[in-house]
Amino acid sequence: MLQKYNPRNADIQVWVGDRLYHRNEAKVSVFDSSVQGGDAIWEGLRVYKEGVFSLDLHLDRLFESAKALAFDHVPDREFIKAAIRDTLAVNGMTHDSHIRLTLTRGEKVTSGMDPRLNQKGSCLIVLAEWKPLVYDNDAGIRVITSTQRRNNPQYLDSKIHHSNLLNNILAKVQANFAGVDAAIMLDNNGFVAELNDTNLFMVKKGVLYTPFADACLHGITRGLVLDLADGLGIKVVERNLSLVDFYNADEVFATGTMGELTPVIEIDGRKIENKWKKSVRYGIQEAFHYFIPTHCEKL
Ligand SMILES: Cc1ncc(COP(=O)(O)O)c(C=O)c1O
Repeated sequence: MLQKYNPRNADIQVWVGDRLYHRNEAKVSVFDSSVQGGDAIWEGLRVYKEGVFSLDLHLDRLFESAKALAFDHVPDREFIKAAIRDTLAVNGMTHDSHIRLTLTRGEKVTSGMDPRLNQKGSCLIVLAEWKPLVYDNDAGIRVITSTQRRNNPQYLDSKIHHSNLLNNILAKVQANFAGVDAAIMLDNNGFVAELNDTNLFMVKKGVLYTPFADACLHGITRGLVLDLADGLGIKVVERNLSLVDFYNADEVFATGTMGELTPVIEIDGRKIENKWKKSVRYGIQEAFHYFIPTHCEKL
């Protein structure tokens, strides 16, 4: 699914550093670490009419990524929340919006890899746009398996939610050439890790399975789905899962802030049945929608 330019975003204001700029003026320096080395971290957040969904969980993950990468002068939680509040307010965004929250290591005194060249502190970007859910959750998505492996802790720990997304972008390029929506990325042992942009779940004989969060992002939606399923009395198993497990699943779905719960209807040409209204996903999705307001923070 290719997202389209939304004219409602033509004049949005974007937070960069310590204030708001019109989107045409919102820029980072060519000396910024994100330009020099993809040295930045990010979170994708959704704004519902009740507020920003799971804001503190996203900020916890952002701070953990910043600590792992040893960023200096990281703005505190209150500063980031105030920046998000001001950005949403100036753009009149009260619902149906998406925030791309980025924290770069900041501007360097001269080009180079060494973080000691970053002497101005990190740089916060709050890019809020009017954006509906990215996937069509009624139609579902078709996926292929990429030859591109998802990083595991041996190379680059997927628990760092960094902006260095080339692995995932190469997987998405393969999906594009194959004419499907997304690509499954395997871990270095050949087990399924996740899609290039979302986490993966499968259902077999009423049991909900998902890969260990070793080579996939420990998604906020993933965590919530596990909790909700448990609360609904569904047996939940985290374990190594191969492509054959997924090909023969009764249901497969993807989870993420960008699309909530999205059925996967085809993997490498194999159809997945997903019995809509009776599906395990349908029950969890209903619980998810019920819980959204209670997980939102009004700023
Ligand atoms: C690679 C990848 N997997 C999964 C997710 C879903 O995570 P969340 O549920 O926290 O949005 C994301 C979102 O950023 C992602 O980039």
